[in-house]
Amino acid sequence: MDIKEIKLKDLKPAAFINEKVEEIAEVVGGGTAVNALSGGVDSAVVTLLGHKALGARLKTYFIENGLMREGEPHRVQKLFARYGVKVEIIDEKQKFFAALAGVTDPEEKRDKGITNVFYKEVFGPLVRQSGAKFLLQGTNYTDVEETVAGVKRQHNILAQLGINTEAAYGYTVLEPIIELRKPAVRVVAKALKLPKEIYDRPPFPGPALATRVIGEVTPQKIALVRAATKIVEEILARSGAFQYLAILHDDRVTGIRDGRRDFGYQIEVRCWDSKDAVTGKPTELPFRQLRKIADRITAEVPGVVSVTYNIATKPPSCIEAV
Ligand code: XMP
Repeated sequence: MDIKEIKLKDLKPAAFINEKVEEIAEVVGGGTAVNALSGGVDSAVVTLLGHKALGARLKTYFIENGLMREGEPHRVQKLFARYGVKVEIIDEKQKFFAALAGVTDPEEKRDKGITNVFYKEVFGPLVRQSGAKFLLQGTNYTDVEETVAGVKRQHNILAQLGINTEAAYGYTVLEPIIELRKPAVRVVAKALKLPKEIYDRPPFPGPALATRVIGEVTPQKIALVRAATKIVEEILARSGAFQYLAILHDDRVTGIRDGRRDFGYQIEVRCWDSKDAVTGKPTELPFRQLRKIADRITAEVPGVVSVTYNIATKPPSCIEAV
């Protein structure tokens, strides 16, 4: 791997910010760049670095892929308005669901269902129409490391897999935080005066809730996992854990509701203690809290009859299920 990590202990946030702002300004020159903002800490940092470097010459888009958490697009748009960043929401739900239809293999989901639609079908035309030659994105060091090690192809890894983005998509991808792991990104986010709800936010994967549906991803299954996610996030918001999530299983199980057999869905809850997502341990949550999660999910998410808690470590488990 030819990228060198900047360790947290060596990071000087103000100097890092200046250096990256200068680098972006120099590479983009007098032109424009397009920026992919998802609302996570990584893309939020990149957005502010790009905004400092390019001002209005940076076009920031939030892609509504139909796979995000409840209320996310407008929340992100409102937050960035405070920093003078205009965020345009582009509704591309149909393209993503069409590409994901019938796909069950995890790597195929990322590759065909997410990466190809995102970079080629969505950002290809957006970048061309805007006349920009660059796409800014928040790839971090761990994303690259896991992909290069062959653990899991993170959806945003391109150049390190030998993909020439200019030839494949018609633009160059700029990755200003690629030398940083998440804890270092959070320090930079704080230095950029992003709010705690961003710099302290648990990680959320680029392919979003598609990584939390086992088997085929459909709008109906995404709606179920989105509702379960909201409950898990509400209950565990103050748990102090690294990341917590809900996964919808593909197989159904027999349950009983109102005295009748109900062949229903299963939700798996995961909650991780980790420093950087490279390894992780299940958080020892109080049983009362786990029961509260189960009670709410089975009462509020239609068709769910079973809720389980993952107690395996990473490795051999992964943070996400897909
Ligand atoms: P895994 O599941 O590999 O996750 O243990 C490690 C960390 O990365 C996030 N993750 C992703 N992030 N694109 C991303 O941008 C992806 O395809 C992806 N897959 C997993 C995951 O949420 C965790 O924080």
